[in-house]
Amino acid sequence: MKVITSIREMTRFSENLRCQGRTIAFVPTMGYLHEGHLALMAEGKTKADHLVVSIFVNPAQFGPSEDFSTYPRAMEQDLEQCRTIGADTVFTPDSDIYPAGFQTYVELEKLPLHLCGLSRPVFFKGVATVVTKLFNIVNPHFALFGEKDYQQLAIIRQLVIDLNFDITVVGVPIVREPDGLAKSSRNKYLTQKERPHALLLYRSIQAAEKMVKDGEIDAQKIVDAATEILLSCPDITVDYVSICDPVTLDGVTSIQGKVLMAVAVWLGKTRLIDNRMLVVPHTPE
Ligand code: PAF
Repeated sequence: MKVITSIREMTRFSENLRCQGRTIAFVPTMGYLHEGHLALMAEGKTKADHLVVSIFVNPAQFGPSEDFSTYPRAMEQDLEQCRTIGADTVFTPDSDIYPAGFQTYVELEKLPLHLCGLSRPVFFKGVATVVTKLFNIVNPHFALFGEKDYQQLAIIRQLVIDLNFDITVVGVPIVREPDGLAKSSRNKYLTQKERPHALLLYRSIQAAEKMVKDGEIDAQKIVDAATEILLSCPDITVDYVSICDPVTLDGVTSIQGKVLMAVAVWLGKTRLIDNRMLVVPHTPE
């Protein structure tokens, strides 16, 4: 497995692969890899001849009061996991990504005005900017992102269309712990006491799913029921419970066809998110 730290070398290396007619799958990460990332990599390997994984904790996507300095880092362990899964190249750029004088950002107009974008105002500007830069550097044929960060995935899909990237964006389903908690690097922050309460996110989504299956179409009633489940734990603060259009992320009042249910909470000091598509059961004619 090749490890590249220089932007120039990564660009040349990709150009070379393309000249040889090889295809590139790309998994951008902030490291502290878990099974969710490994699922992206495994999927990437099925899509292309060469798998590039980037590891870069992107300062631009953290707000001033967020956890950039304490975000978990484990480079040696991450490299070992990449090696084991069979990544071909790991790109670990340093601060050259944002050289002195940097001032060009990528910002979407509408998609960030929902869900996580409301409480994390700089987050998607930072994500869109770094992903654009990484796409320019790595120049992949395929890029893989987890459906757990559903809004991020929607934003990248839009960015690829808007900025004419010739890249196929692939969404990979959420990987869960055996009890249902969505895998996340931030799960590491949960204390032993908090860990069982983290399951309430999944429970609230399962309850919503059952309500839809039983015929409920009033989105507010489902949001209220899910919120009540989350608030049954006094250590949880709800950021949002949303039922929305899966493409525009605009809220819906009545559930028809396929809608996205997304939740975000603070459990103590840890922010957790989860989501699932709610599908109205087919009504027999
Ligand atoms: O999902 C992440 O880990 C990050 O937001 C990403 C896409 C690697 C950009 O820094």
